[in-house]
Amino acid sequence: MSMLERAEAAERKMAEDLERAVVKSAIYTSGERDPREGAPPRPPGKKVMMGADPRLPKMPDKPTLFDFFTLRFGPTQHMLQSARLAQKNGLPEHLVMACLVHDIGVAGFIRGDHGYWAAQLMEPYIDEEASWAIRYHQALRFFPDESVGYAYPKSYIDLFGADYVPDPYIQRDYQYARNHKWYMSSRQICVNDLYAFDANVKVELEEFTDVVGRNFKQPKEGLGFDASPSSHMWRTIMWPTKYL
Ligand SMILES: [Fe+2]
Ligand SMILES: [Fe+2]
Repeated sequence: MSMLERAEAAERKMAEDLERAVVKSAIYTSGERDPREGAPPRPPGKKVMMGADPRLPKMPDKPTLFDFFTLRFGPTQHMLQSARLAQKNGLPEHLVMACLVHDIGVAGFIRGDHGYWAAQLMEPYIDEEASWAIRYHQALRFFPDESVGYAYPKSYIDLFGADYVPDPYIQRDYQYARNHKWYMSSRQICVNDLYAFDANVKVELEEFTDVVGRNFKQPKEGLGFDASPSSHMWRTIMWPTKYL
């Protein structure tokens, strides 16, 4: 094919994709719709989305963690500020790495139980203690630790109400983490988290190129195309409307 033919073929493909029906996963609509009703029927004669959604920025063939940061995640300043603060406070680098990604569940995947999701996404690629710390910040954040100056966040009273009581599974996981040898590593995510909301500070992702280079095992096939236990989750973030 000539250059022109290739360009035309790509354009045709784009138009065709745009015409593809998006059938949303049950979890995207559950609540707004009763999931037991099933998804609305696809328009007759239409093919369904089976890969990249043309409404989203194109991902490179071999995506990196930073590609997900810039092309798929929502605002990430909170994590970047948190990582910078962790660095300033002298945390070891693998925990700076943990702070940098501690809320990717919220930024790019699913909010509820975000710490567990983020840990699972990162587990194959970072230090075991770092992913452990991410998982348990989910529970620790609800419980103060005066010994490191961590109080119950005021914003939680505003968000959840003064009478909010964490679910039993969060209390259980808090107790477990409290007695674990890595407790303080996870606690440090909360400590560096709280003060990380500053609208006046702008941190660039590139500030952490070296930290990520040393602490994140970038798969050579691209994130999502390796065969790790969480690569399918990265693909779901990349192709959120894939039919099957
Ligand atoms: Fe968090
Ligand atoms: Fe956070």
